Amino acid sequence: MLKMKKGLIVAVVAALFMALAACGKSTETSSPSGAEKEGKQKITVGTDAAFAPFEYMQKGKIVGFDADLLDAVMKEAGLDYELKNIGWDPLFASLQSKEIDMGISGITITDERKQSYDFSAPYFEATQVILVKQGSPVKNALDLKGKTIGVQNATTGQEAAEKLFGKGDHIKKFETSVVAIMELLNGGVDAVITDNAVANEYVKNNPDKKLQVIEDPQNFASEYYGMIFPKDSELKAKVDEALQKVIDSGKYAEIYKKWFGKEPNMEGLKQQQ
Ligand code: ARG
Repeated sequence: MLKMKKGLIVAVVAALFMALAACGKSTETSSPSGAEKEGKQKITVGTDAAFAPFEYMQKGKIVGFDADLLDAVMKEAGLDYELKNIGWDPLFASLQSKEIDMGISGITITDERKQSYDFSAPYFEATQVILVKQGSPVKNALDLKGKTIGVQNATTGQEAAEKLFGKGDHIKKFETSVVAIMELLNGGVDAVITDNAVANEYVKNNPDKKLQVIEDPQNFASEYYGMIFPKDSELKAKVDEALQKVIDSGKYAEIYKKWFGKEPNMEGLKQQQ
């Protein structure tokens, strides 16, 4: 009898110890990480890093105007973030599924996109341009009639081409702007329609390729880039506030000068805000 009691006590004490140990463990695994304790969670930002000078890969790192601006904005907002190169079409799918919290990728704010996503205040003015080989007879957008045009899939470049000439085989869609330009060099398309700063950057960095940029403000309207969020994201307000501070402090102008070698014209942007 006595022996049995002793055995029971041992068993109860052992069970208690085990329960305590388990307790200790479980509080440990559920304790918040450093960042969470300070109220910070890590924001995942997606991009398509084949769009110099806005975002491109250099020695395994994503660099460019957008990368610098994002860094300044996130620092200002006190947010931890990671910028991931996920590609253009996946960027939109990942926003839809909320696998990423936001995107920055030279993304034009359009009415159509606004139906499915939220945008920050505009941070950059752009327009579409035509990239052709030097000596091409193409002098403006209308001269592209009957020619094959390369675009990055699902971009405003594609939209601009379709608006002028309708959908069809004359418009060849590529995964990145870089691939579209390669196709122009290979003679697979007669022209590429892409964003002005990207076309200018390519021509500047590759003089041996003998390409030229044709502007046509009559046929290509102004566009404005925004950072993009899933619909009703709480991040938008924080990012807008921080972006405004980055602009007001002169940090935006500093980043702009680093990538474009001149002062930004903030008037056009302000009118859009
Ligand atoms: N601005 C154009 C658009 O929004 C092209 C952007 C492409 N950006 C990129 N990183 N590939 O449709």
